[in-house]
Amino acid sequence: MPFEPTPDLAREIDDILTRYPNKMAACIPTLHACQAQNGWCSEEVIDFVSRRLDLPTAHVKGVVTFYTLFNQHPVGKHQVWVCRTLPCALRGGEDLLSHCEKRLGIHQGETTKDGLVTLRSAECLASCGTAPMLQVDKDYHENLTKERVDEILTSLGATLLGATLK
Ligand code: FES
Repeated sequence: MPFEPTPDLAREIDDILTRYPNKMAACIPTLHACQAQNGWCSEEVIDFVSRRLDLPTAHVKGVVTFYTLFNQHPVGKHQVWVCRTLPCALRGGEDLLSHCEKRLGIHQGETTKDGLVTLRSAECLASCGTAPMLQVDKDYHENLTKERVDEILTSLGATLLGATLK
């Protein structure tokens, strides 16, 4: 079934197109807006953006597959991105990623069975001075400990495996 923008999204795309010098420059914000409605950049979303912006499908698909912030598969209600680049890694980032995998019972790149959380790793999120850190949806959580990660996951409504929270 083709992707159909809501009237609000159609207006948002019209507005995006007024703010960029050409349609190619509007590709990324248009994809973000469509992903916000659809949850991920399906083939139908890519086709829609390609037609709406008069761009080759291969170009739009290239953008979607290049940037990790575009979801190429359905994702959970919340996305947890654990930074794994060197400054975070030196301060325990890899351990925090393993901890999240253990607590959620999934590997990075997977979504919990209840569709609540997708766990992902990220390259530097530009918050190295407060390493180790992770991002939940649009929020940063910094100077983390395993205990703090448990609190964050619990606040999302996740059921933690093997949790020993007080
Ligand atoms: S290395 Fe983690 S935020 Fe930069």
